[in-house]
Amino acid sequence: MMNYRRLGRTGLRVSEIGFGCGNVGGLMIRGEPSSRTRAVARALELGIDYFDTAPSYGDGQSERNLGQVFRELGAEAYVGTKVRLTNGERKDVQGDIFHSAEESLRRLRREYVDLIQLHNPITLRRGTDFSAMNVEEVLGEVAEAFQSLQRQGKVRFYGITALGETEAIHRAIEVGAFHTAQVCYNLLNPSAGVEVTLKFYAQDFARLIQRASETETGVIAIRVLAAGALSGVESRHPIAAPSVPPIASGPDYDEDLGRTRSFEPLVKEGYVESLVEASLRFVLSERGVSTALVGFSSIEQLEKAVEYASKGPLPRESLGLLPEVWNRW
Ligand SMILES: NC(=O)c1ccc[n+]([C@@H]2O[C@H](COP(=O)([O-])OP(=O)(O)OC[C@H]3O[C@@H](n4cnc5c(N)ncnc54)[C@H](OP(=O)(O)O)[C@@H]3O)[C@@H](O)[C@H]2O)c1
Repeated sequence: MMNYRRLGRTGLRVSEIGFGCGNVGGLMIRGEPSSRTRAVARALELGIDYFDTAPSYGDGQSERNLGQVFRELGAEAYVGTKVRLTNGERKDVQGDIFHSAEESLRRLRREYVDLIQLHNPITLRRGTDFSAMNVEEVLGEVAEAFQSLQRQGKVRFYGITALGETEAIHRAIEVGAFHTAQVCYNLLNPSAGVEVTLKFYAQDFARLIQRASETETGVIAIRVLAAGALSGVESRHPIAAPSVPPIASGPDYDEDLGRTRSFEPLVKEGYVESLVEASLRFVLSERGVSTALVGFSSIEQLEKAVEYASKGPLPRESLGLLPEVWNRW
């Protein structure tokens, strides 16, 4: 049975598992047309009501395929997409956002999307990273463009991707200018929800989820399976992205796989049947998370994710075993 959670102050209630239509699992980009339709139909049947896509996923293919399947099925569910600003000089941020949103709506064959999110990472200063936006631009021109799209009825709500520099992300969230944030949160990097030590091996997101709750910003968890490394299985599904750079965990996939072994006692001691179950239920144990996005390569993966989520949070004793692992890294 699917559980639903409030998405911040949007008033929407979203399923605890969200359907990631990105590159990693790849079903919505590289899957056969019939598998894509069956997967979306099955997801809807299981109660999934949030689908996350972006113009950059498969260079527009994810949005096109999702639009086509939704039309074929007459599906009604929430759709979120994104906008990534690529122009290094950023002369016309608003114009670029309007253009990107129009193109997304055309590919998705929709009049509006429920959510539009900035895809760029956020930094304190300009020029630290060309793919990034600085926090003033995000709170200024980006937020204004999103509000304008909302007034035009093209988006219902708007959010950010909470990647980049921790201080900059916190500043973007704590003023409550956005309805949602996509937050990297998993067993390999729990710092968005849990306090970690100063010597923690990866980026410290400094309990971003709690800050988001204070401004009623809806949290959409990403990388809940660390792009697959948290399954503990080295080989990739044939339609999955063959190699994936980690986000805010180890320097590469192999190191993430190695760290994942630290969680095997959860399976051995019978708390969960698999590391995937441990990972999903860990993320959903955090009440500040509204939905956990998962990238799927197959319908079986989708069904398992929903089955695990329905078991609820991890047992308290098993959660108690985790800080010892994180403090060791
Ligand atoms: N805003 C952003 O910048 C951003 C960044 C990342 C992700 N996202 C969103 O989050 C979504 C999820 O992607 P992600 O990168 O975070 O990946 P993820 O969900 O952490 O990992 C997906 C991978 O986990 C494995 N998996 C999934 N279900 C499984 C199961 N039941 N059993 C075993 N393995 C399973 C699959 O690996 P195999 O394919 O190898 O089997 C799959 O490719 C994306 O589609 C996107 O919507 C957004």
